[in-house]
Amino acid sequence: MQIKFYWIIAVLFIGACGGGDSGNNDANSTGVSSAETVTAYTVSVPPGFPLPKILEDNPLSAEKVTLGKRLFYDNRMSSNNTMSCASCHLQSQAFTDGLLTSVGSTGEVHPRNSMTLTNAVYNSRLNWANPMIKTLQAQALIPMLGESPIELGWSGNEQKILDSFRVDPLYRDEFVQAFPGEVDPFTAGYVAKAIAAFVSTLISGNSAFDKSLYQNDSTAMSDSAKRGRDLFFSERLECFHCHGGFNFSQSVNHSGTVFDEVEFHNNGLYNIGGTGAYPDNNRGLWEFTFKAEDMGRFRAPTLRNVELTAPYMHDGSIATLEEVIDHYARGGRQIESGEYAGDGARNPFKSELINGFVLTEAEKTDLLNFLKSLTDWEFVCDKRFSDPFGNQLPHPNCPQL
Ligand code: HEC
Ligand code: HEC
Repeated sequence: MQIKFYWIIAVLFIGACGGGDSGNNDANSTGVSSAETVTAYTVSVPPGFPLPKILEDNPLSAEKVTLGKRLFYDNRMSSNNTMSCASCHLQSQAFTDGLLTSVGSTGEVHPRNSMTLTNAVYNSRLNWANPMIKTLQAQALIPMLGESPIELGWSGNEQKILDSFRVDPLYRDEFVQAFPGEVDPFTAGYVAKAIAAFVSTLISGNSAFDKSLYQNDSTAMSDSAKRGRDLFFSERLECFHCHGGFNFSQSVNHSGTVFDEVEFHNNGLYNIGGTGAYPDNNRGLWEFTFKAEDMGRFRAPTLRNVELTAPYMHDGSIATLEEVIDHYARGGRQIESGEYAGDGARNPFKSELINGFVLTEAEKTDLLNFLKSLTDWEFVCDKRFSDPFGNQLPHPNCPQL
C-alpha cells in the first residue's frame, strides 16, 4: 500500500478560561499562549506509519515539547550538573551513546547498553527487558530517580534540582506555559511528562528502505540492499519474525492496536557453564519472573538507524553489525574461555527461531547493506530534535548550515 500524504494529528487543548490564540496548527509556531491555553502540537507521521497513541494524561502541546527538549539536553538535570538525558542519548548516534554500557553522572556503570530513542513512542514496553514500564514518562523517572545504578542522581537532590529550574526566568515561563493552571508545575512528575512529550516526537521513517517501500522511490535502495531485504524477510534467516512490522520490532503499540503486543526472546548470546545462565547483572525477563524459561529473554529492539547505534545487544557485547550477522549465522555465540564461557547456540532457553544459516560473503554484504538502508539521515540531522544549547555536534554527514 502506498500512502502519499502525511497523517497529521493535531491536538488542541484549551484551558478552563478558554480564548487565546490556541488554534494554530503549525508545529514550528511560536504562537503566544496565555497561562490558560496551550498551542496545538502537530505530529507528522511518515507514509506507511500508524498514528502513535498519545496518552490522555500527557497530551502533546508545542509548549510541552519545547520545554521537554530543553530539559532533555540540560545538564542541570543531574545532581552534579554534569549530564542530561542527551549525554547517553546523542542525536548523532541515533540517540545512543556508543559505550559498551552507559555510565551515570556519579561514575556508576549501568549494566545495560543505551537504547536508541528512535520511534520509542511506538514501543508497548520500554527498556531492554522490563515488562512493567509502559509509558515514556514512567521510563524517564528511572534515570532521574534510580539509585541502582545512579544515572542523573535526583534521589535526595530533587528539590535542589527543581529549584535550579524554578529560579531560571526562562524555565519559569516555560513550565507555566507547558502546564497551565497547575499550582506548582515544578515537580519530578511534570519534568518527566515534558521530556516524554519531546521523546514521543522522535519519529523516524524516511530511510532509503522507507523511500523505496512507501514513497515509490525505486532508486533509494541499492540492488545489494534490496537483495539483503529479501534475505531479512526470508524463512531461511527468520529475522523478520522478531524484528518485523513498520518499526522492525515486535512489541509495538499504536493507535488501533487491540492486543497488548509484548515479546521477549533469548537469542543465544550466553550459556554460562552449559546451564543456560546469563551474567548475573543481565538475566533479562527472568529478573522479573524468576521463571527458568525467561533467562536471557530481552525485547527485540527496533533496527531502524541500527548502523549508528553500535555496540550492539543489551550489554554492548557485539561490536559491529558484521559480527551480529555472524552471531545469528552460527545460531548463537560461542564464548571459549573466562567466566562467561559456554556455547550460546546450545542455550536451552534459546528461541526456536535462532537456528543458524549459511551465507555467502556476497549475501552477508547484501544483508549489511539492507541494515544500513534503515538509516534515516533526515531524522539524525533534524534540527527539531537537536541540542538547543549547541553543545552537541551533529553527525558529520549532516549538512552544515
Ligand atoms: C547514564 C546514561 C543514561 C541517562 C542519563 C539516560 N538514559 Fe535512557 N537509557 C539508558 C540505558 C542504559 C537504557 C536501557 C535501560 C535498561 O534496559 O535497563 C536507556 C533506555 C531508555 C529508554 C527506553 C527506550 C526503549 O526503546 O525502550 C528511553 C525512552 C530513555 N532511555 C529515555 C531517557 C530519558 C528521557 C532520559 C532523561 C530523563 C534518559 N533516558 C537518561 C541510558 C541513559
Ligand atoms: C527470536 C527472535 C529474533 C530473531 C529471529 C532475530 N533477532 Fe535480532 N534480536 C532479538 C533480540 C531479543 C535482541 C536483543 C538481544 C539481547 O540484547 O540480548 C536482538 C538484537 C539484534 C540486534 C542488535 C540491536 C541493538 O540495537 O543492539 C541486531 C542488529 C539484530 N538483532 C539483527 C537481527 C538480524 C539481522 C536477524 C536475522 C538474521 C535477527 N536479528 C533475528 C531477537 C531476534
